[in-house]
Amino acid sequence: MDLQKLLREMTVDEKLAQMTQLVPQIITDKGEGAVTGPMRNFGITKKVTSRIGSVLGISGAKKLKDLQDFHLAEDPHKIPLLFMADVIHGYRTIYPVPLGIGASFDEELAEKCSAMAAKEASVGGIHVTFAPMTDLVRDARWGRCMETTGEDPYLNSKMAQAMVRGFQGDLGKDNIAACVKHFAAYGACDGGRDYDAVEMGDHTLREYYLPAYKAAVDAGVELLMTSFNTLNGIPSSANKYLVNDILRKEWGFDGIVISDFNAFYEMISHGICENEKECAEKALNATSDIEMMSTCFVKFGKALLEEGKISEEQIDNAVMRILKLKEKLGLFDNAYRAASEEDEQKIHLCPEYRELARIAAEKSAVLLENNGVLPFRKDVKKIAIIGPVADHGMTGGWYCCGKSSEAISVIQGIKNAIPNAEIAFARGCSAEPNEKAEDVIEQIFEAKRIAQDSDIVILCLGEEIDMSGEAHSRARISVSDSQTRLIKEVCEVNKNTAVVFYCGRPLALEKIKDVAPATIIFWHPGTEGGNALANLLFGNVNFQAKLPMSFPYEGQSPYCYNHLRTGRPSTNGGYCLGYRDNPYEPVYPFGFGLSYTTFDISSPTLSSEELTEEGEIVVSVTVKNTGKCEGIETVQLYIQDVTASIARPVKELKGYQKVTLAPGEEKVVTFKITVEKLKFHTFEGKFEAEKGKFKVFVGNRSDIESFEVFRLI
Ligand code: BGC
Repeated sequence: MDLQKLLREMTVDEKLAQMTQLVPQIITDKGEGAVTGPMRNFGITKKVTSRIGSVLGISGAKKLKDLQDFHLAEDPHKIPLLFMADVIHGYRTIYPVPLGIGASFDEELAEKCSAMAAKEASVGGIHVTFAPMTDLVRDARWGRCMETTGEDPYLNSKMAQAMVRGFQGDLGKDNIAACVKHFAAYGACDGGRDYDAVEMGDHTLREYYLPAYKAAVDAGVELLMTSFNTLNGIPSSANKYLVNDILRKEWGFDGIVISDFNAFYEMISHGICENEKECAEKALNATSDIEMMSTCFVKFGKALLEEGKISEEQIDNAVMRILKLKEKLGLFDNAYRAASEEDEQKIHLCPEYRELARIAAEKSAVLLENNGVLPFRKDVKKIAIIGPVADHGMTGGWYCCGKSSEAISVIQGIKNAIPNAEIAFARGCSAEPNEKAEDVIEQIFEAKRIAQDSDIVILCLGEEIDMSGEAHSRARISVSDSQTRLIKEVCEVNKNTAVVFYCGRPLALEKIKDVAPATIIFWHPGTEGGNALANLLFGNVNFQAKLPMSFPYEGQSPYCYNHLRTGRPSTNGGYCLGYRDNPYEPVYPFGFGLSYTTFDISSPTLSSEELTEEGEIVVSVTVKNTGKCEGIETVQLYIQDVTASIARPVKELKGYQKVTLAPGEEKVVTFKITVEKLKFHTFEGKFEAEKGKFKVFVGNRSDIESFEVFRLI
């Protein structure tokens, strides 16, 4: 396709329409399509809607082929529509929420899961996913923790790249284009309140918040979505510093920049634009290409051009990026692309995909406590399954076309695994965070009764899927009063109890830490949750995941393990960093997670005590399985820059490796340190390493204390 010729033939109005994205109901007048933000009458004509460039929030081969036909019949240049959707952790077969994928510390898994989602979405007619979301988050109150891979820039970057590789592959028909979001620093919203402002210095922005978006760009992501929030007073939609200077010029990104839902129009509410015309001007001048769910471009772009406030070249650049993506995806050759009802039947929820979703749920579950009660014996006769989230599938928010009814509940999973046991079920309480124990005391006593009468108890608590996600921030992240009481009552009468938390964010677990014999964080596990849990609880597979976010005490958020050092480090004593009523360190640190076996990790040995600019140091540890079953340990490398021109974090993750060991087996694990791992953003705006002393920590959690030292010379 000669795209330049096509561009020349398009009128300005057609170009502006190409840069507009709407939900399908606005085009067809049929009530179909998922809406994730405010709707209003846009006041645009049929002529405009029949020429728009892309659609969001609809899926399914048949529907999308029909919509494509409807559009092509009207569009004078026969430019196919791009179909975009939130394929966040699966399309029809749902795997754990991204926070769970982060916990797996397994890039291959992240890539495979994204590739599966891409294939399912592609045959369902989708061309672009609004994923990966690589927003770094330190505040457990934020609802969208579930969509991130956590608090660490290194882990987030690795995961972002793996997801981009998985979704996009070679952009063939099995793949879809990825859209990294939400640029930038959306996860740092004040107070953990979704959509709230972000105030942040350049150092923190570049050092912690930007790396994962950059990693996605380096991995070749095709699109980038700007965020809702203001950053230092400027909404990302109009933030020339972010988009023109950093993204386009510094990072050389020439893909599509798309707004978030209605975000251009919302600049009026932010109070930085008086009307839609100003919104269009500011967004266009920040090199935005697609306007999602508002119509400032189509309504006012032409006038701005006539007034000389924007140039036709700006518009042409944007349209060309859109046309190029359409061509790359093969839409000019086949506007249906991979959409196929037959393939949907064959591929969606096929056994291979269900198996991958199960493995992903197993690899993402974090074992926080186990006094030896787990794994349960398989010859148990009576099992009590208790809790408000045990009897239904727990797909997790942004479940796309996944269905709770197609997901395996805990009850079903346990029945599948231990078919001869008798299962008793009681809800015990609800997942409502403000529920008081006294209001459900009868239910709690009923649960206690069945617990007393059973060999083992599986208590499934935490959050329903709609308690985290967009616009679902929480002021308090503690386990509710009713759930806490339920745990206490049940554990009192049955010591063979495992508490399984479903959640889309870290929960404050201090009240139950020493009460439950075993505690598991199962996130929102997806389609195969119940089967995966049964495999873990009965020891068919071992736990291997690690926390991708610190689990703080109530009131500690925001918290991160890689915080800066202060003049008065926390000793939990007087006149030091900390609280009067809480310890300073979290309940469970970043990187922590147990296994059914135990590992011994030796102190690191360094190949040299000095590192030169061009050289490398090899750090080696011997990891030994000191327990009784096979296990996988995630060995983590952390570095501290001891003295630098600005304060540096207590430690930072710089590498991790998974090692599988049979009982008694040991292996040497090595990491290479080069100067690249020591670079940081200096006060002068340079990215460089400074000579001096560095500490090296290697272990299986972020709060390891022993270290070795080297110098950069
Ligand atoms: C969310 C985005 C999402 C978009 C489209 C917005 O509300 O912030 O993450 O991709 O809706 O559904």
